[in-house]
Amino acid sequence: MSLQFQLIGYPIQHSLSPWIHERFLSKANLQGTYEINEIDPQHSFEEKIMEMKNNKELNGFNVTVPYKQKIIPYLDSLDKNAKTLGAVNTVLNKDGKWIGYNTDSIGYVRALETKYPELTKERKSKHVLILGAGGAARGIYCGLDFAGYVNIDIANRTTEKAREIAELRSELTNTDILTLKEAENNLLKYDIIIQTTSVGMKPNTENTIIHLKSIKKDVIVSDIVYQPIKTKFLKEAENLGARIHYGHTMLLYQALYAFEIWTGLSVDINNMDEELQQVLEGR
Ligand code: ATR
Repeated sequence: MSLQFQLIGYPIQHSLSPWIHERFLSKANLQGTYEINEIDPQHSFEEKIMEMKNNKELNGFNVTVPYKQKIIPYLDSLDKNAKTLGAVNTVLNKDGKWIGYNTDSIGYVRALETKYPELTKERKSKHVLILGAGGAARGIYCGLDFAGYVNIDIANRTTEKAREIAELRSELTNTDILTLKEAENNLLKYDIIIQTTSVGMKPNTENTIIHLKSIKKDVIVSDIVYQPIKTKFLKEAENLGARIHYGHTMLLYQALYAFEIWTGLSVDINNMDEELQQVLEGR
């Protein structure tokens, strides 16, 4: 039996997902394909989705921008996390029923905690700062909350958007909303600082969302931007003695979680982290 997976989104010709999933398939000794199914926003989304529904061989697919919300009406059910987030990036075809998941959020937390495993025992004591309040911030905020982090502040240029995200918190979680300036002046409070916006991404590699001045010894500074791998923000953090966490690992772990949902199997990431770094550096 050969498995069939796809990615829908636009534009996705340069997506790294086929590279990642083909490796997972081979590591798991499974026969299968992972294909790009680019859906031009000029064309009928519904028509394309109906074509996919008619393909009984399709075991599952990933969904990326701009369809993470648009796919929801076509699903038979949603897992809890995807429902809270109102965004789906993974769909499982289970006996003809389409089930929606969001693996971005839990994938991020798995990536972070794989790099820094001690965090799993310290979730309640760590003070986290999220910079930005877009879709990625929303996913990471819910992922952390879901995993058991209880002190998660959000700083954003538009504080109203940060406030909206904080409304998703569970009962035990405390969240302060800050301006970017306030965050910059209070960095010493934080054990984990996560940059979730596109600021610093190629070609604007000289930009940083805030300047890292006084930071805690041993703070973990994470940036979801992975082009370049080491953003200016991460370089500043490293120069100040922080431990850093690269954005491309989120890509691997959200994919791994999707693969587990589809196949019921897990694989070892092993050196895929370094391999992916090389692929990205070659671009
Ligand atoms: P995504 O879904 O990829 O997270 P998004 O929804 O467009 O992207 O969100 C982008 C985030 O980056 C927002 O928090 C945005 O701030 P605003 O909410 O104030 O718009 C933030 N952002 C983008 N460019 C920025 C910049 N130059 N300085 C500060 N924040 C920026």
